[in-house]
Amino acid sequence: MNVKSLVSITDYSKEKILKIVEAAERFEVNPNQDLLKNKVVATLFFEPSTRTRLSFETAINRLGGRVIGFSDASNTSTSKGETLKDTIIMVSNYADLIVMRHPLDGAARYASEVSNVPIINAGDGANQHPTQTMLDLYSIKKTQGTLENLNIYMVGDLKYGRTVHSLLMAMSHFNPKFTFIAPDELKMPEEYKRFCYEKGIEYREMSELNDISEADILYMTRVQRERFLDLVEYEKVKNVYTLKKNMLEGTKENLRVLHPLPRVGEIAEDVDESPKAYYFQQAKNGVYARQAIICDALGLI
Ligand code: CP
Repeated sequence: MNVKSLVSITDYSKEKILKIVEAAERFEVNPNQDLLKNKVVATLFFEPSTRTRLSFETAINRLGGRVIGFSDASNTSTSKGETLKDTIIMVSNYADLIVMRHPLDGAARYASEVSNVPIINAGDGANQHPTQTMLDLYSIKKTQGTLENLNIYMVGDLKYGRTVHSLLMAMSHFNPKFTFIAPDELKMPEEYKRFCYEKGIEYREMSELNDISEADILYMTRVQRERFLDLVEYEKVKNVYTLKKNMLEGTKENLRVLHPLPRVGEIAEDVDESPKAYYFQQAKNGVYARQAIICDALGLI
């Protein structure tokens, strides 16, 4: 594997995570630079995206780089039967770096094994979303002043939500306490609970969203319709939790509500007025975190 690829958040040590967060802070102060002059970055999105693709492309443009790629694989030779391997080999002949989103778990790891240039995983199936995690960590650090010793509540689709899987692993460096709130059908998978157990991280599981008074971070997630094999099962759980503004009464002053977005009913619009709502700023932070990730992958910071 190319050593500079970012496939899983476990590719980053604690020191690397802190280095990327510090670089993101600098990019937020000064986002327009020419660090990527003469660099070409490919964004290959085999799955839909608004924030991830556009924030990556904004990050590249603001650093003076150029972007090639696609947002719909049906317009590419994939639709003629070209394999992922051949596609990656070809694109790595054109670009200095590849950012890829793919519906299959493990696709980014596979791409990194056949690519001549670094691969950045922009989400692979229900597996990992490490660049989302870096912007989440940056957002947590900005709002809490620290990453250490925080009460993190994860709510919603903890089974298929790749963002919570990556975030859980990254936060394991910082002595968190987790509360997992999900219906039985969407509970945090055993492998991630085992990971917490092995790392000595405290967690508890709940099925109701009714006591968030101790939370520092309330991380809401969407039920991932696209991962369900049986849509009848999706219909049963799709509206399982809705956060409303009045539910924030009695919560900690420092509480911030995060969501990787898009939301489809998990957060009522009246929450947007609360100073504790942070999800739109969180998405904006993605530009700075991704500038740091790209520059690190290319050996520029
Ligand atoms: N958070 C996130 O991955 O959003 P998009 O699917 O819009 O990229």
